[in-house]
Amino acid sequence: MEKLQTDVKNILGLQLPSDPRWVNLAEMQLEEILTDHAYCEQKAATTCITLIQRYSDKDKLVKELSPIVTEEWGHFRLVLAELHKRKLTLGKQRKDIYVNKLLEFQKKGGSSEERMLDHLLTMALIEARSCERFKRLSEGLDDDYMRKFYRKFMESEAGHYTLFIELCDTYFPKTTVRKRWKEWLEYEEKVMDEMEIRGDRVH
Ligand SMILES: [Fe+2]
Ligand SMILES: [Fe+2]
Repeated sequence: MEKLQTDVKNILGLQLPSDPRWVNLAEMQLEEILTDHAYCEQKAATTCITLIQRYSDKDKLVKELSPIVTEEWGHFRLVLAELHKRKLTLGKQRKDIYVNKLLEFQKKGGSSEERMLDHLLTMALIEARSCERFKRLSEGLDDDYMRKFYRKFMESEAGHYTLFIELCDTYFPKTTVRKRWKEWLEYEEKVMDEMEIRGDRVH
């Protein structure tokens, strides 16, 4: 447990930890969090499909992301089951302010290679922040069952973060990846700092 926590902290590289008040807010609106979370998982699955379609000539990417589609869809189903257990329905998809802000930072022009690197790093970042948020929930919630529930997601998203960085390192020079990753981390720090803390959102 302690090792993983340290690993998560060191590996993810996130510049700004989530405001500790977020867990308390989220705890009061767990049903809202479940709906938002369900859509996050759904979007993770569909984005992996998009990446496979867009970069179909990249064999390793196609091979490695195919099972992640299944895994993310499995996550969606787990969250959906949790909603149904509580006699709740999925509800409408919400505006994802965090992800929209990140998309603004993606290179619009430049080479297709540069755009690919940004796509992969955006995913790595969303996985990293999701992992950090699930870690907070897995440590801070009162309900033991829900703490364990989020711990599974935390471990899984940590693995996805690592995979996206590995894919970057496969297709781009390490120095290029590190330089751009650092820019992404700095940008994300600002995004997090400026965002309102909401207990009804995963991010
Ligand atoms: Fe997931
Ligand atoms: Fe994931």
